[in-house]
Amino acid sequence: MEGQPDRGTARGVMSVAYIQALRNLALKLETLKIHGHDKVAVTGDDWKNQMRAKLNELNKKTAAKGKTSSGVAVAQVSDKSLDSIRAEVENCQKCALGKTRTNTVFGVGDPDARLMFIGEGPGAAEDLQGEPFVGRAGKLLNDMIQAMGLKRSDVYIANIVKCRPPGNRDPLPEESAQCMPYLMRQLKMIRPEYVCALGAVPAKNLLERNEPIGKLRSSFHDFMGTQFMATYHPSYLLRNPAAKAESWKDLKMIMDKMGLKDPRGKNV
Ligand code: URA
Repeated sequence: MEGQPDRGTARGVMSVAYIQALRNLALKLETLKIHGHDKVAVTGDDWKNQMRAKLNELNKKTAAKGKTSSGVAVAQVSDKSLDSIRAEVENCQKCALGKTRTNTVFGVGDPDARLMFIGEGPGAAEDLQGEPFVGRAGKLLNDMIQAMGLKRSDVYIANIVKCRPPGNRDPLPEESAQCMPYLMRQLKMIRPEYVCALGAVPAKNLLERNEPIGKLRSSFHDFMGTQFMATYHPSYLLRNPAAKAESWKDLKMIMDKMGLKDPRGKNV
């Protein structure tokens, strides 16, 4: 169906995974009982929550690999399904930024990425090229991604607003409000496990909180079923290189959760 994630077509396949997950859970409970933990009372709601968590985990892991735990191929998010949103964005005139942009800047990267970076909005270079983070800040973001042991093509990169705010000002609240539904739809399709907000604008808009970035960073937040970390914006890091060490701590926390090793061989 137009505009729907392709993964929705894998319902039959996921029921195999569902049965598998049920079996695994039953097996775990059985094992606990064998080991004398016979007070493992699972009430109706606990059971449902455990199943939901288990299935979420399973869906993420297996869909990202294109397979269910039973080895059955699962439909992945195709560029095509994201392309239908991209086409809407390209024609969007919901706010005044539509009048001044050269290009819309939709997003780039792996449509099945485990990790998604979200910035605030395109700058001059991005407006010209139609791709996020291609200027000086983009170069630093690429270095940060590489330091995590990943490539730019392994992650997905998008912004709160898809058109350049003139003079690189922050997006106005009404511009963010008009544009964020596109980002939400991207998030629903890509379903990353981790989101890294770059700077105060995405952190505040997505978490709907008003604390400064210094307060929001360095701990995980629950956001749309993802583990959400905010860190400093690469442009801020270019102006304040001393803050890079703090930002690296945030990225290491993500790496740790993702099970990524520091490629330079240091302990994460
Ligand atoms: N800054 C952002 O927040 N996004 C970009 O795409 C480029 C610079």
